Order: sequence, then structure tokens, then C-alpha cells
Amino acid sequence: MREWTQEERYRVLQDPSEICGLYDSIRKSDYRQTYHIQPITGLSSDPNGFVYHKGVWHLFYQWCPWGAVHGLKYWYHTVSTDLVHWENHGVGIYPDSFYDNKGVHSGSGFSTGDNLYLFYTGNHRDENWVRTPYTCVAELKESGELIKASEPLFGPHENYTEHQRDPKVVYDEDTQKYYILLGAQSKDLKGKVLIYSSDSLLENWTFAGELQVPGFEDLGGMWECPSIERISGKDVLVFSPQYTTLPHRGKNTNHNVYLLGKMDYKNLTFTAEGTYHYLDYGFDFYAAQFAANVKDSDKAVLTAWIGLPDNHYPSEAEDWEGSLTLPRELRLVNNRLLQRPVPALASLRKKAVVLDKELPRVCEIEVSNHQGQDFELKLFTKKDGSGGFCISYDSDTKVCTVDRSQMDQRFNTELGESLPVSLEDELTKLTLYIDKNSIEIFMNDGQATFTSHLYPTKQEAYYTADSCLNLQAWLLKTAVTDDFVV
Ligand code: FRU
Repeated sequence: MREWTQEERYRVLQDPSEICGLYDSIRKSDYRQTYHIQPITGLSSDPNGFVYHKGVWHLFYQWCPWGAVHGLKYWYHTVSTDLVHWENHGVGIYPDSFYDNKGVHSGSGFSTGDNLYLFYTGNHRDENWVRTPYTCVAELKESGELIKASEPLFGPHENYTEHQRDPKVVYDEDTQKYYILLGAQSKDLKGKVLIYSSDSLLENWTFAGELQVPGFEDLGGMWECPSIERISGKDVLVFSPQYTTLPHRGKNTNHNVYLLGKMDYKNLTFTAEGTYHYLDYGFDFYAAQFAANVKDSDKAVLTAWIGLPDNHYPSEAEDWEGSLTLPRELRLVNNRLLQRPVPALASLRKKAVVLDKELPRVCEIEVSNHQGQDFELKLFTKKDGSGGFCISYDSDTKVCTVDRSQMDQRFNTELGESLPVSLEDELTKLTLYIDKNSIEIFMNDGQATFTSHLYPTKQEAYYTADSCLNLQAWLLKTAVTDDFVV
């Protein structure tokens, strides 16, 4: 693993030519994604500014140009008209002001009429490396020009630590006000959401208070990336609690959860129905964000980073890592949240393939387990059936276990290489989306999902499946352009 100095990590990109060489070398990698958003060079992490505006989906990612390392962050801009085919649009927001001198950190988009605004955290550090987070706004003009407001909307609140970031902007019809939800950490090191409010989107923001979330006061030491949507009359609060282990999550200390319930902006309270739920049960899923302005009160659209803070992945050796999940549609059915890939994804199906021992490198597979029986399915085994990425199911406990410990390339092993998914119903169906370095598994039409990086070697090109399973597969077309646009 390469060691980076602070200077190297925080180097400012002066000219695209500085990363041409990196781009030329990584694009030859066997692990470049074909239908997932990924960094043009270096590292991508959180999705940012995900918003539908005037017929176009805008989606940015946290980007560090220099390699597989967290350093000076930019917002890199991608666009789509169908949430499936994505084009690179170059850097969206540069860390080029006093307030964001050490990074343009995460945030959200907001579309209003003809205007598109991006709210983000300016990560300022002084010469002693003391951090001051600012909540900032910029307008993205139709011409592509980005105009930053000259002053931040507000700075940090003194009652909390330096961890105050990731603004999510919403408009509440009941109180007829705008709100910003900010991920934060209290001085006694608990995860919080702070609420700011204003009558106007671009000014007069004042601190309204700390969001009360009764029953969840001790869930982790920092809540990153809060996001909220109303689906069929219910509020869904999503956030990424850190600095704690949680049941059935191995030794991970970074998580992504959601609460279903009622958001009351007047009383600054989120009343949850029942406990928190894992948004995804996989090894690599974090910082999920809802798209703004979806315009359908019965669904939400969400994407996340395929990766976790502090983790390392095999493509690091090639100086890059990271990817975003497929955008998912979330709906409430019988008071349960179901997550499915957006329907337009079906347009990527090239042709159906009859599987016979060999596994296509990029594909969608529908696995039926009609009788809900115990099974074992091993993807990317060697020719003799050994090794592989193992998905198994125990019908007595209704637990599906995913184990990547038998793959040639192992990584983040200390966090645990096997994770369980407890299902409410028997597991009768799996839909797998396999790309060059990731797999997303949708169980029972989205009752649970499991996202993981995986880096099969050349000899890992086969699969084995128990006879109770029926597999139907499709090759998929490429949907990301992967062009060098900076
Ligand atoms: C989550 C996060 C955010 C922050 C960003 C910086 O992964 O730590 O809280 O804004 O990444 O890249």
C-alpha cells in the first residue's frame, strides 16, 4: 500500500494534463466498471448533489484525482436522462475558495423553477490544520457555469465538534420553510442531525435546533450524510452512523441505516416506527443519498458509494478505487421499504445467455428458488468449482449468508468476510447485477439488498449452483462513457 504525504493528498489540480497519464493507465484495468459510475482517476466516494432538473439527472461524486486516497475533494459531475446511461461532465465544484480550501465535501442539490442549486460543506483548514466546516451554496447555470455564493450560508455551531457537514436541503409544505439537515457530532461524541431553517433558499438561515430522534440517542458517534424523503405518506430518514459496531455487521464501524416514521419540522422531532434498518446488508455500501425533485410521491430514488471510509480495495494498486451503486427506486409496500433497480435498467439487457459452468464477466442473473429451499450458489469459482463468492441460504432461520473469504483477492479481511442477511419471508428470488468490480444482490424483489466489491482473477470464471436453483442470465450493455473530461 502506497504511503501518501499530506502535501500529495492535498495537491491542487492545476491542469487536466497532470492526470492524463493516470487516466491512460487505469482505463486499461480489467476492473473498470461498465454500467456503474466510477472515478475518471483516483478515488470516488459519496454521491453528491443528486437531483432531477429540467429533464436531466445530475449526480456528482466526491473525487480525489491523485490516487486511491482521501485528500483534497472535488465534486465530479455526471449526467443522465434515464438514470442508466451516464456521461462524464467534468469537475462540478472546485475547492478554490477560502471556505473550501481543503475540500468541497458532501451535500445535496435543489431544483427550483429554472434554477439549480448545490449545497455543500466547505472544508476549511488553517495553517495549524484546525478545521472549520462551512455550509455553502453554488448555482449551476444552464451553460454549465458554476457560481459560488461569495459567503457561506453559515459556519459551525459552537456546541458541536468540528464534525458538522453534508447539508441536505428540503422544503416543508406544512411550515412553508426551507430546512437544512446537517450531520453532526455532539461534544459528548454522539451522532446528531442539526436543523437550520429559512424562509428563503439562499439567505437568512438560522439554527433551529438539534433534531430529536427518540430511542436513537446512542446510535454511533457521528451521523454522516443525512437524507430524507417522504414515500407514500411516510418519512424515511437515512444516515450513516460511525464509530460503533452494530449487530450482524462484523467489525465494521461505518454503517448506513434508515428509520421509517414521521418528521415534524415544527417540533424538530423524528418519531420512528420501530427500530433502525440496514439500508443494505453488504460489505461495501455507505453515504447513501436520495435524489431531489423526483416528482412522484410514491417513490424515491437513491444511490450510495460502493465502499466504506478507511477501507482499502485491490484496485488501489492501480491508483484508483470507488464506484456508485445503481440508482434504486424505493417504495413502501405493506409498510415495508422495497428497493429495486430503476426499471430503465432493463434496457441494458443485451441477450439472454444459457449458463453452463462459465460465468459472464458482466451480467444480470435472476435466480429462482421456487420452494424456498436451502441452497448454495458460488460465483467466480475456479474451474474445479473451488473457491468463489458464496451465497448460501438456511431456510430454518431464513438467513442468507454472503461469504467472500474464498476469493483469490481478499481485502478488508479484519472487518469480517462473511455477513448474514435475516429475511422476514423465505428467500425465493435473487437478482444479481455483476459488473467488473462489484455485485449488487436484490433479495425477494428488494426486501433486502447486499452490495459488495469483488475482484475476480482470470482463473475465477465459473460458478456452481445447487439443483433447486433456476438461473436466467443476460449480458449487459455498457452504460458509462468513461471519457476523459475534467
Ligand atoms: C462521508 C464523508 C462525508 C464528508 C465526505 C468527505 O464519506 O466523510 O461526511 O462530507 O465524506 O469526502
